[in-house]
Formats: sequence, C-alpha cells, structure tokens
Amino acid sequence: MELTSEGIMREFVRKRGDSNVFQAVEPTDFQLKEGLVTVLAGHSGSGKSTLLHMLAGLLVPTAGVVKAGDVSLYELDDEERSAFRNRHIGIIPQGQTALRSLTTFENVMLPYRLSDAKSKEREAVSAARAESLLERMGIADLKDVMPSEMSGGEIRRMAIARALLLEPEILLADEPTADLDPENTAVVLSLLREAARGGTSVLIVTHDADAAACADRMFQMDRGRLTETAAR
Ligand SMILES: Nc1ncnc2c1ncn2[C@@H]1O[C@H](COP(=O)(O)OP(=O)(O)O)[C@@H](O)[C@H]1O
Ligand SMILES: [Mg+2]
Repeated sequence: MELTSEGIMREFVRKRGDSNVFQAVEPTDFQLKEGLVTVLAGHSGSGKSTLLHMLAGLLVPTAGVVKAGDVSLYELDDEERSAFRNRHIGIIPQGQTALRSLTTFENVMLPYRLSDAKSKEREAVSAARAESLLERMGIADLKDVMPSEMSGGEIRRMAIARALLLEPEILLADEPTADLDPENTAVVLSLLREAARGGTSVLIVTHDADAAACADRMFQMDRGRLTETAAR
C-alpha cells in the first residue's frame, strides 16, 4: 500500500523564544512506495518525527492530506483512524512504548488483541508469529518477563516485533536501531528489508550509516524541509 502526502505541514507554538508559532514541517509532498526501503536522515529537531507521526495518522497536520492507498487518514474519525492504523500501519516509535503491566509476549500480541478480526485461528497464527519474531529478535527467553525487568534495547526489540506482528502493508520506524548493538541492528535492518521485499512500504528514520546503506531511496530533513538525496 502506497502512503502519500500532499502539502502536509505542521505548526507548533513555542512557549519561549521570539516568534511563537513555527513550522516544524514545511508543506511536504511525499510518496512512500511499495516494496522499497526509504530512509530519512537529518539533525535532531529537524522535524523527522513530526513528519512520521503525521504520516502514521498519529498527529493531525496543520494543513494537507495523507493518503494510505485510497483512504484519506484525517478524514476518518479517531476511532476509524485507530482501527485503520492498527490493521495497515506498523509503527516503531522513537521512545519506549511498552505497556508496563503486560509481559513481552502480551505486548507483542497487542495489535492482534486490538484488531476487530479475532478468531481462534487468527490468534494461533498471531501467537506463532509473535514467538518467531521474538526468536529472531533474540528475546524469546524474555517472553513472560515484564518490561520493568528489561533493558532499553530489549524493550525496543519487543516494540519492533509488535509492529511487525500483523504484517502491515506500511511500516514506519523512528530511529529503530538507536539503542541497539551492531548485531541487533543487523537483525532489525534485515527484518525491515525483508518486509520491503514482501511488498511493504518501509520508512526508516535514522542517523545510522548501516541503515542508510540499505536504502532504496534517501531523504534528508533540514529545518522542516524535505529533500530527496541520492541513495547509496
Ligand atoms: N508537541 C510539540 N510542541 C511544540 N514543539 C514541538 C512539539 N513536538 C516537536 N516540537 C518541535 O518541533 C521540532 C521538530 O521536532 P521533531 O520532529 O521531534 O524532530 P526530530 O525527530 O527530527 O528530532 C523541534 O524543534 C521540536 O522541539
Ligand atoms: Mg525524532
């Protein structure tokens, strides 16, 4: 599924400083294409996460349109948008987003729990996939452990497994390898590349040179302005 934006921009109000309203993301046309890994780089504070959140259906743009396939995300109401996102868009957020009261396995199974297509059969398929993702991520032995007993890197790998659970057609990853060692970075990047090979539209926001090396398309964000740069 292709993800496109037309003229999306986002203003924020700054509590301090001389000008109160500033554009974190300037009006942006963007296409995230099926089957490709698109990498977005840029300095901290340049607007990468803001753009990703708008593309993900998590942050209402000040202006502009985001379309996933034929669906205009911000024309849906909140509930419809959440359901659509859960079904079609895998998000690997920048921060830590473990639900503290759930085990690793339960955290990874969340997208299935939240989906409106539940059945014994689907549950079994999701559980098997959850187990195999935890295995790939090297955290299978932490299946029944609570996030409070896990390291930052382990929680991040859990969040990645969760985002991949329902094999979303669109995958948006915000600095997915930021706190991982080289070995786990390689695992994560190969999973993301594999998803793209299977037809998923993949966006990776990163500073990581290894991630940039697997990009089919490269973009740069500079103070809210997006430009395409040469890949590889
Ligand atoms: N909710 C918010 N309110 C006000 N300013 C924000 C908010 N979110 C982000 N910003 C500001 O917008 C700019 C871009 O932030 P962000 O998209 O997180 O950058 P990046 O992900 O590239 O580091 C930064 O200057 C940041 O301080
Ligand atoms: Mg960011």
